Amino acid sequence: MHISEELVVAPGGMLRGTLRVPGDKSISHRAVMFGALADGVTEIRDCLLGEDVRATMGAFRALGVRIEELDGGRLIRVHGAGLNGLKAPSEVLDLGNSGTSIRLLTGILAGAGIPATLTGDASLQRRPMRRVTEPLARMGAQLATADKGTPPLTVAANAPLHGIEFQMQVASAQVKSAVLLAGLFASGRTCVEEPAPTRDHTERMLRGFGVSVDVAGHRVCLTGGQRLRATSITVPADLSSAAFFIVGASIAPGSDVLLENVGVNPTRTGVLSILQRMGADIELLNARDVGGEPVADLRVRHAPLHGIDVPPELVPLAIDEFPILFVAAACAEGVTRVRGADELRHKESDRIATMAAGLAAAGIGLETYDDGIEITGGPLTGTTVESHGDHRIAMSFAMAALRATGPMRILGASTIATSFPTFTGLARSAGLAL
Ligand code: S3P
Repeated sequence: MHISEELVVAPGGMLRGTLRVPGDKSISHRAVMFGALADGVTEIRDCLLGEDVRATMGAFRALGVRIEELDGGRLIRVHGAGLNGLKAPSEVLDLGNSGTSIRLLTGILAGAGIPATLTGDASLQRRPMRRVTEPLARMGAQLATADKGTPPLTVAANAPLHGIEFQMQVASAQVKSAVLLAGLFASGRTCVEEPAPTRDHTERMLRGFGVSVDVAGHRVCLTGGQRLRATSITVPADLSSAAFFIVGASIAPGSDVLLENVGVNPTRTGVLSILQRMGADIELLNARDVGGEPVADLRVRHAPLHGIDVPPELVPLAIDEFPILFVAAACAEGVTRVRGADELRHKESDRIATMAAGLAAAGIGLETYDDGIEITGGPLTGTTVESHGDHRIAMSFAMAALRATGPMRILGASTIATSFPTFTGLARSAGLAL
């Protein structure tokens, strides 16, 4: 679905109705990747078909994997190449805007010893890759990046890797996953210890593919050489996409939405805990398990929000939702403080800087820090904001229009298609004036 470069959202309104946001991005990437490495044919239902996951699909096709899109995209069939069946690509692998694609794929290619060059768009070419190349080099991989440790990233053919014991410095599920995936190909055991819990979709899904993964506290280990068995996966709706509607409904008087079939893995639900502490009215209904991932329907009604100090342990569990949480803070009574969130500076944009610029332009009082922000709630005026190639910045300011006194004009809005190609249609059907 095409999203125009410039989006103008008229002020006011409310969100209502029963909504289904697209499939979870993290789970969709992994389903395609693990399906490609498995023996047999993996079927994926409700896979997100945004540009990021399409970048992963394109890369695996270039590595010789057959991927079919059936039933209008509702069913993806991945013909697994087996652990050692990927072929060296004849072209540079362009992962677009997608950090998950480039980092996880680097782990797989380094593990498989497949020479390749990986790159992406202007945003991806600014993102740090040493966090993955350093541990992979310790396992015996030969990798090179541009001078600043950014893409393009080159993987050279290398001798088989050996397992390592890796203490991760940043709480990053992408780094954890890249090292564990390389560990699948390595001799011996690979263990990753994280400084704080991060999303555990890799661990859960590898088990679904028959791989034995040992988790004890903050430490995850696996033994190399285990083969993946093809399986069937149904992808839950993405809580990170639902978050725009959860905050939109919370801030706009009269709102009442039911978000169906949303993934509520406890390593992802920091956004719900933070909003509930701020006074949001969010009900989890019909909680169930779908293929090893917890899922629920979320009913969200408008409620007055108040500022809080966000507990630092919730930061990694809500890492992708801070742009829209900052909008919630701008609409809340009082001050909201977030610290210990320096990782926000290394996302699709520097999310502390880009959100601060947009909110300040809309008249909100704030102060930024290297590792966070302090936002004082108040009236929002309409303004013009730049997405900086960051889908979540664009969608956050679209929702902010619900409480603005004038139109929100968002430049560079087509980036929304990386994670949420149906955003404009769904938001319009729920009541956003765009
Ligand atoms: C992701 C991990 C997070 C998150 C990203 C998706 C994943 O990144 O921000 O959107 O699928 O593993 P980091 O690992 O860099 O924190």
